[in-house]
Amino acid sequence: MARESEASPDATLRAAPFGAAELADAQSEALTRIEAATDLASLEEAERQAVGKRSHFAGLYQQLRAFEPSERKDAGQRLQKVRRRLDEAITAKRAELTAAERVGRLAADRLDLTEVLPAARQGHLHLVTRVREELEDVFVGMGYEIAEGPEIETDWYNFQALNIPVDHPARSSVDTFFVEAAEAETLLLRTHTSPVQIHLLERRELPIYAVVPGLVYRRDTPDATHLPAFHQLEGLVVDRGVSFGDLAGTIETFVHAIFGETVRSRLRPAYFPFTEPSAEFEISCMICDGSGCRTCAGTGWIELGGCGMVHPAVFEATDVDPEEWTGFAFGFGIDRLAIMRHGIADLRSFIENDVRFLEQF
Ligand code: PHE
Repeated sequence: MARESEASPDATLRAAPFGAAELADAQSEALTRIEAATDLASLEEAERQAVGKRSHFAGLYQQLRAFEPSERKDAGQRLQKVRRRLDEAITAKRAELTAAERVGRLAADRLDLTEVLPAARQGHLHLVTRVREELEDVFVGMGYEIAEGPEIETDWYNFQALNIPVDHPARSSVDTFFVEAAEAETLLLRTHTSPVQIHLLERRELPIYAVVPGLVYRRDTPDATHLPAFHQLEGLVVDRGVSFGDLAGTIETFVHAIFGETVRSRLRPAYFPFTEPSAEFEISCMICDGSGCRTCAGTGWIELGGCGMVHPAVFEATDVDPEEWTGFAFGFGIDRLAIMRHGIADLRSFIENDVRFLEQF
């Protein structure tokens, strides 16, 4: 034990040996400093003050020499024990602060893209996208699959395989965007979704019940009823014993699902190279309910798209046996359907990105 009263003769030049109370004080003082550290920098400072060269605790080591040799070992051991206690506290505190700083850094770096700020306006899908999804739902409900095809096509898929002859006006470069990557006028932006009929028939697992939504491109100047890039929905059904009546019934069914039961549909003879017979399908004008107005040019009817029975030449191009299989196809503009249903005056509103227009739907 340290002697507080009775110093050895040569101890007068040295500090007095420490007692149990002083050691306990030094320990709790150091622990308090360590505990008080709030970050790694202040822990380093606390460590320096608690056990550094100039610390009260380091001073106690100096005092060891003031002990009687017989007591020095014991005093040294007590000092070591405190030192270990302090080192443990520092290590534990460092681990705690390191973890806390990591959590803090992660929190600061956090970028929550799903966060909805109360003050911000919430967006929604574009009307054309919503109408497309609605159409998909209607056809999925009728047992159709949703298919896709490439927007860059070859002349074969976009025209030839669809029985569109070389001199057909639809092939002219007046209407078609060609891609310059390949030999002149061999690659193009599809002008309709009908080439996907060919892809589906080639991938053929008959029967086919598919609808194909997608972008198509035509060299048109944008105006109220034309956009150079717009959306179509193609339908293709190939099965045994499919009739024109099935086609008419399918169109009537989806028209009712999209426009409501009061709107009627009808077919009018038309011509498409890849269907025979072909028809245009029209719906009764929902502005005047068929009595004739400006929107329907006084006819009471609005044209929606084209359709018909798959032409034998298309089956031939894709090696499908026309003796066994028959089919029908239809196609129409999704954007046009959307402006009709929502009474929108101008197709260009869809691409102008004016939020005052877009947020109405
Ligand atoms: N592809 C034609 C068009 O873009 C529409 C159509 C599709 C017609 C399928 C008949 C059958 O005008």
